[in-house]
Amino acid sequence: MKKNLILIGFMGCGKSTLGVKLSYRLRTMLTDTDELIEKKQKKTIPQIFAEDGEEAFRRLETEVLRELLCTGGTRILSTGGGLPMREENRTLLKQLGTVVYLRIRPETVWNRLKGDTTRPLLQKPDPKAEICRLLELRGPLYEAAADRIVDVDGKTYEQLLREIIE
Ligand code: S3P
Repeated sequence: MKKNLILIGFMGCGKSTLGVKLSYRLRTMLTDTDELIEKKQKKTIPQIFAEDGEEAFRRLETEVLRELLCTGGTRILSTGGGLPMREENRTLLKQLGTVVYLRIRPETVWNRLKGDTTRPLLQKPDPKAEICRLLELRGPLYEAAADRIVDVDGKTYEQLLREIIE
């Protein structure tokens, strides 16, 4: 396995939760790109989107990946759902480690995230349609970024952990 274990996938697929569990199980430090950005900017993600715009947030995602490449250590890296959309980021991810795509169906995302107010991209009149639209657009790019694909629907976290660690 390459140095880091990287989790990518759509909002609500379980990257953060699985990241924590993997970090305990493998006794490996956990890093989350959204958290790094929030710390760096001293703002929450919704604040960054509202005050600086999505493009600025995307630039920050690339910046933290570049910084991580220069940092030592082995880590579990959980990422923001839109991070693999930039080609440069997909290249950086491949350089950083083994990329696991947590693939999820739109209905499951909707069940998990309806009512969520923390994701700026889902604050739309019809968030369910937006989930479907974004997933269709992003699916092929997640696949292009991935070394491995793990389907998450209907599985427990324990099952997923085992699948990922195998
Ligand atoms: C985003 C996903 C979010 C966060 C930001 C944008 C996206 O992370 O990075 O709101 O573009 O899909 P999660 O996937 O952890 O929700």
